[in-house]
Amino acid sequence: MASPLIAPSILSADFAKLGEEIAAVAHPGQTRADWVHVDVMDAHFVPNLTLGLPVVQSILKSTDLPVDCHLMIDDPDRWAIGYAEAGAYNVTVHVEAAKDPVMLAKNLRAAGAKAGLSIKPGTPLEPHLETLKHYDTLLVMSVEPGFGGQSFIADVLEKVRTARRLVDTGHLKLLVEIDGGINSDTIEQAAEAGVDCFVAGSAVYGAEDPGRAVAALREQAAR
Ligand code: DX5
Ligand code: ZN
Repeated sequence: MASPLIAPSILSADFAKLGEEIAAVAHPGQTRADWVHVDVMDAHFVPNLTLGLPVVQSILKSTDLPVDCHLMIDDPDRWAIGYAEAGAYNVTVHVEAAKDPVMLAKNLRAAGAKAGLSIKPGTPLEPHLETLKHYDTLLVMSVEPGFGGQSFIADVLEKVRTARRLVDTGHLKLLVEIDGGINSDTIEQAAEAGVDCFVAGSAVYGAEDPGRAVAALREQAAR
């Protein structure tokens, strides 16, 4: 497997100084994040409200890190394309919210983004395996989407293992991403199960030095 990717989630950053917070994990070297993870929430699909396309457009202008947009919104079939057109590197929609996930993936790719599919902890993966052939990333949620700082749900690692197996045997071609409760206590079990990309919010932005937290998590995941 390639070297583990670390994607700090700005949900735990100080929104009043977002540019600086992202810059803190963008210096060249070990402390540089691989992607920056942006959680878009609409207070309908999840019980929280964060930010939308105008803020993402500003983030895209302010950093050269690939921007990983996680859309926790209703009707992604309508709204996701805007994030791809704006220049996001990866745009992830929820399988529980998408009406036509195959068409959605095609549209996202046609707009130049990678297409991501996310799955909540309680949603089984099996019924969606055919759909996944159209996607570039699978974002396995390891907390209920909506808030940072929650505890890791280890049961979801079974979905990671299934996806890993399908990727390793050539049946699927995608990156396996995990989101929720990833920190120094949990990242090793997630890595062992076969995760490629680790989202970490509070473990990065709750740390004294976010860049050093990125480097430490990457090192731990690579063990
Ligand atoms: C939660 C978000 C996560 C969140 C993770 O719904 O999707 O990206 O920022 O936060 P931590 O890493 O603190 O669990
Ligand atoms: Zn997220």
